[in-house]
Amino acid sequence: MVASVQAIRVNTAPPYEVLTGRGLLSRIGPFLRQIHATQALVVTSRRVSTLHGSKLKGALKGYRSAWIELPDGERVKDMRTLDRVLQQFARAGADRGSCVIAFGGGSIGDLAGFAASVYMRGIPVVQVPTTLLAQVDASVGGKTAINLGSAKNLVGTFHQPAIVVSDTSVLKTLSDRDFRAGLFEVIKCGAICDPEFFSWCEQSAPKMLTRDPAAIERIVTAAIRIKAEIVSADPTERGLRRILNFGHTIGHALEAAGGYRTLLHGEAVALGMIAAAEIGVNMDITSPEVAERLISCVLQFGPLPKAKFSTSMVMRSLGSDKKSVSGRPHFVLLDKLGSTVIRSDVPDDLIRHAIRSVTT
Ligand SMILES: NC(=O)c1ccc[n+]([C@@H]2O[C@H](COP(=O)([O-])OP(=O)(O)OC[C@H]3O[C@@H](n4cnc5c(N)ncnc54)[C@H](O)[C@@H]3O)[C@@H](O)[C@H]2O)c1
Ligand SMILES: [Zn+2]
Repeated sequence: MVASVQAIRVNTAPPYEVLTGRGLLSRIGPFLRQIHATQALVVTSRRVSTLHGSKLKGALKGYRSAWIELPDGERVKDMRTLDRVLQQFARAGADRGSCVIAFGGGSIGDLAGFAASVYMRGIPVVQVPTTLLAQVDASVGGKTAINLGSAKNLVGTFHQPAIVVSDTSVLKTLSDRDFRAGLFEVIKCGAICDPEFFSWCEQSAPKMLTRDPAAIERIVTAAIRIKAEIVSADPTERGLRRILNFGHTIGHALEAAGGYRTLLHGEAVALGMIAAAEIGVNMDITSPEVAERLISCVLQFGPLPKAKFSTSMVMRSLGSDKKSVSGRPHFVLLDKLGSTVIRSDVPDDLIRHAIRSVTT
C-alpha cells in the first residue's frame, strides 16, 4: 500500500529529491529509471536483508542487479569491508552506468556511499535508509565515511545521492533503542531551527514512542525538510551546516570515550544536548527556561544509558575532535528555541562541569 509521498528537494549541484512515505520500497524501479541506472548494486546488512529484502528484490525484478550482504552495524565501516565491496562491484561488471543502492542504516549508508564515491572515480548512489537516524539525518547531505582504526569517520567524501527513498513502514521492525536514538536527532532539528515543531514533539512524545504511522511521517518529513534546507545553503559544512552539530561536541567525545560500543550515536547526542544546555546557561546564552524545556523533552524519550566515564577521559576525546577550531572545541548553543550561536571560547571549567552533569 502506498500512502502519500512527500518529495523534498535538496538544492545542491546537481539537486536531488528525498522521497518519503509508507510503502515506497516496492516502488523503487521507476526512480532508478529516472536516474538512468542500468544496473543496481545493492549494499545491505544481513538483518535488513532478512527483514525487508524481499520487497526490494521484488521491485528490482527485470533489472540487472547484484546483492551484497554485509554484517550488521558500525563494523562495516572499515577498509577491509570497503575493499570487499569494491571487489564485488568489479566482479558484477559494474561500470559508470551502474548505481549503488545503500539499503540499511547509517553504517551501510556511509560505507556504500563512500564505495560509490570512489569506484571508477564516482558512480551514483541511491540512499534507501532503514533506520530512523538514517532517514532523518545520515541519508541526506552527502557525507560518506569509514573509520580508520578507532578514529571515527576519519576517511570520507562528500558524495550527494542521486535520490533518497525513505520508506517509513520499515521502521516498524527497528529495536526500541535504535528508534529512540533516532528521535533525539529529530528533537535536535526542532531545537535548532523550528520552535513550533519542537513544541509539537514535546506534546506528541507518546504518539512518537508508540510509532503512530502519522506521527512517524510527520517527524521524518519535518526533520528532512530542516536538514535539506541547511544542506542546500551549505553543502560542504563551511558555515551554517555546523549548527547541525548541536549536542555533537560532547556527544562525539562521549561516544569516543566508550569506544563506540557503549552509547548509540543518538543517545550520545541526547546527553550532548543536555550538556550544551548547561554550558549555554552558564555562558548566559541559554535561558534557564529554554534549558529546562530542552532537557525535559530529551528525557521524555529516555531512558538514556549511564555514561560511566571520567571527566578527564571525555576531555581527552574532546581534544582530538576533528572539528575543533585551532585546538578549541566549538559548541553550538541555543540562544532561544530555534536559534543558535557557535562559540569556541567556552572555558574548560564550564566544559568539565557540563560533562560531569551527564556522566556518572
Ligand atoms: N553521513 C552522515 O551524515 C551521518 C549522520 C549521522 C550518522 N551517521 C552514521 O550513521 C551510523 C549510525 O547509523 P544507525 O543509527 O542507522 O545505525 P546502524 O546502521 O548501525 O543500524 C543500527 C542497527 O539497526 C539495524 N537495522 C537497520 N534497519 C533496520 C530495520 N528497519 N529494522 C530492524 N533493524 C534494522 C541494523 O542492522 C543495525 O543492527 C554511524 O556510523 C554514524 O557515524 C552518518
Ligand atoms: Zn548526529
